[in-house]
Amino acid sequence: MNVLVTGGNGFIGSHTCVELIEAGYDIIVVDNFSNSELENIANIEKITSKKICFYPIDMLDYNGLDRIFKENSISAVIHFAGLKAVGESVKKPLEYYENNITGTINVCKAMRENGCKCMVFSSSATVYGTSSKVPFVETLPTFATNPYGFTKVMIERILNDLCMADPDWSVMLLRYFNPIGAHESGMIGEKPKGIPNNLLPYISQVALGVLPYVSVYGDNYDTHDGTGVRDYIHVTDLAVGHIKAMEYLFSHKGSEAVNLGTGKGTSVLEIIQAYEKACGKTIPYKVEARRQGDVAVCYADTKKAKELLGWETKRGIEQMCRDSWRFTQKK
Ligand code: UD1
Repeated sequence: MNVLVTGGNGFIGSHTCVELIEAGYDIIVVDNFSNSELENIANIEKITSKKICFYPIDMLDYNGLDRIFKENSISAVIHFAGLKAVGESVKKPLEYYENNITGTINVCKAMRENGCKCMVFSSSATVYGTSSKVPFVETLPTFATNPYGFTKVMIERILNDLCMADPDWSVMLLRYFNPIGAHESGMIGEKPKGIPNNLLPYISQVALGVLPYVSVYGDNYDTHDGTGVRDYIHVTDLAVGHIKAMEYLFSHKGSEAVNLGTGKGTSVLEIIQAYEKACGKTIPYKVEARRQGDVAVCYADTKKAKELLGWETKRGIEQMCRDSWRFTQKK
């Protein structure tokens, strides 16, 4: 069975490709390589010993997308392709809305045109906005605080409307918490371009000696040690969640939103300590002002994922840090 993976060369996409192949699916990758290295495809091939069919096409190129469907019989789409940097989205809203929203509409139109109506969408816990009602449950209202977040909120809406208009569609909106870690082989992982914005890639660069220290954004939150608490999830657990979601869609129509998280919160200082243990080095840090837009605590209610998909995470913080460090050293 052929599965089209948009953005399959990216961080979460590449891990999902590995899990799909290992579960026996044939994959086709489409990616414009704007935020990832071509070598990921080669590394997925090395890990799985399978040749990958890939198309270097942009989501804004409708005809290119249509051609992929005409050339292959595709049963389902896992849609990752999109821009994802919060700060950049504030500076370039038009690019974010055009790329993420028009890109998704193009994918859906090409799917409809070619009779494929099954999609797993890469959403985010960012759709819970500034809610302080932890754990975040899927029934909370959705909102965002920046253009990137609004693209996720709007795409969820578009896909829900599509399912209402045409009952043949099956859509899963997967709301990720904080994906970190890397494949246990150390061959694929997160390789941000420039100075990282997210905590784990930043810590890994400090551990490597490339950056001098970690800025801890605030130690006066209402949490056990004052630093921000997040639900960090191993990218391999997350990838497996996509397969479970897709398989659920094979026998269910309509749309569902499901959280993918561990249900456990970890603070910034606890993550730094876990990384120190993984790499055997001291990680210098300085406490600085809170970062605008950050919430104190964010973790998932995981009940729906367990009940609907029969999925739960298997890997803890130690493994996440160990796998991240293995990948970081190999780069
Ligand atoms: C961020 C985005 C979120 C996006 C997600 C993708 C913001 C406000 N949110 O989530 O929309 O879906 O990335 O992975 O940007 N921290 C530090 N020092 C750092 C970096 C982060 O102390 O150098 C702290 C933050 O204050 C936070 C925690 O670490 O408490 C995690 O931050 P980060 O990795 O950026 O993820 P989120 O902010 O949760």
